[in-house]
Amino acid sequence: MANTVTAPASPAQPQTELRATGTLEIKDSRTSKSYPVQILEGGVEGDTAVRAMDLRQIKTAPEEFGLMTYDPAFMNTASCKSAITFIDGDKGILRYRGFPIEQLAESATFLEVAWLLRNGELPTQQEYDGWVHDITYHTYVHENIKRFLEGFRYDAHPMAMLCSSVAALSSFYPEAKNIKDPAQRYISTIRLLAKMPTLAAFIYRHGKGLPFIYPDNDLGYIQNFLSMVARMSEPQYQANPVFVRALEVLFILHADHEQNCSTSAVRAVGSSEVDPFSALAAGVAALYGPLHGGANEAVLRMIEEIGHPKNVPGFIDSVKGGKGGQRLMGFGHRVYKSYDPRARIVKQLADEVFKQVGMDKDLEIALKLEEVALSDVYFVSRKLYPNVDFYTGLIYRSMAFPTDFFTVLFGVARTAGWLAQWEEMLNDKEQKIARPRQIYVGYGERDYESRLKEKFPKSGKDGRKK
Ligand code: ACO
Repeated sequence: MANTVTAPASPAQPQTELRATGTLEIKDSRTSKSYPVQILEGGVEGDTAVRAMDLRQIKTAPEEFGLMTYDPAFMNTASCKSAITFIDGDKGILRYRGFPIEQLAESATFLEVAWLLRNGELPTQQEYDGWVHDITYHTYVHENIKRFLEGFRYDAHPMAMLCSSVAALSSFYPEAKNIKDPAQRYISTIRLLAKMPTLAAFIYRHGKGLPFIYPDNDLGYIQNFLSMVARMSEPQYQANPVFVRALEVLFILHADHEQNCSTSAVRAVGSSEVDPFSALAAGVAALYGPLHGGANEAVLRMIEEIGHPKNVPGFIDSVKGGKGGQRLMGFGHRVYKSYDPRARIVKQLADEVFKQVGMDKDLEIALKLEEVALSDVYFVSRKLYPNVDFYTGLIYRSMAFPTDFFTVLFGVARTAGWLAQWEEMLNDKEQKIARPRQIYVGYGERDYESRLKEKFPKSGKDGRKK
């Protein structure tokens, strides 16, 4: 009975209610009416907000819809309360459930962090053993998933394959749609954490034209992943311990990052009460983009294009000139405006890995880029600093992962955060289906007058227009 799960854990729900901390007086110049709006405060870090719905009462006539907030790209909108991850972008602080990322990266395991993110507390030994056991015994995927992956072209982008295969998993577990049942949510969480590395490794092997390697349940999470990626004919794969540690740390750093693009996608899609496999496929799609998780791949491509440290100043000038909409990939962040604490850890990690495997030829270009950008007023004045993805690609490449596979590694790690955020969203009584408003700026009503001469073009047998 190796693959039955233990009793479902009931995730802690420390979401506190928001406290009224003051009043915002809003005066509408159109009507001269004043509206007191409550200022709300949450948690211990003192985030404050007003409820957007409190503005709806502001109108010039009773039949009007009322005032909305306009916030493209959610630059200043909190879409939820969350007790999972705290970021102070100005101070460069990142904590999971209160624990500093530096401490977790130094001492925790990825699965311990995955438990912490979902459940709110560090696991006891017994909880951890059960969690690791359940995940270990759900790593296999249905044989049809193998055939599904084999249907892709040899050069299919690994993220396209990951996105589709995660979505495809939903068809193998129809019971996962019972998202109101905590036991179903738990087993789906286990399955996703367990099968993501298997999917990722199978995708890697498909790209290389190598046979798939089945999971080895005697190995740890990271070792097993590396075994499925790299094992050839040896009876048991022995991963390089430096790589195991590096991947463990990188997975911890990437495990969650509050309401980023892909997590918001998971929450938004999950709010329709679809199954978690489908919701996470949306997260993978969002992560694929070069402005999000795809940045680690884009950094390496940029470095390859630069080619030599002597070309760095010219490249920086072209970025500043906005030539072809070029950006310095791996630089800048919506939230971090002093530094990305993950980037600091990754840079240190890169040093350790390169000590073992030798200096990466492109590290020199990366170091030069960093040096030039950090002393350039364009970057300094815009508070653009290296983000987590600036150095991760170099580490992944030194481990012989192909460039287009980097974001898949990010996705395997972020699965922990997506699942924790999805669980929190479902347990939050205030959440409903995500459905933003718009400010309509199109035509007013007008009458239909067709501009077509022929509405239903006649087609020949071959489907071509005659
Ligand atoms: N290179 C050059 N200029 C930049 C960069 C960059 N990497 N990032 C921002 N800028 C400039 C913008 O052109 C803009 O300048 P302006 O005020 O003269 O118009 C200013 O800095 C502000 O930029 P925004 O685009 O408004 O910043 P935003 O918060 O929307 O974007 C983002 C954040 C998407 C991360 C951006 O910095 C970027 O594109 N970086 C490169 C891609 C990247 O590394 N993404 C990974 C992010 S980390 C992650 O997802 C894991």
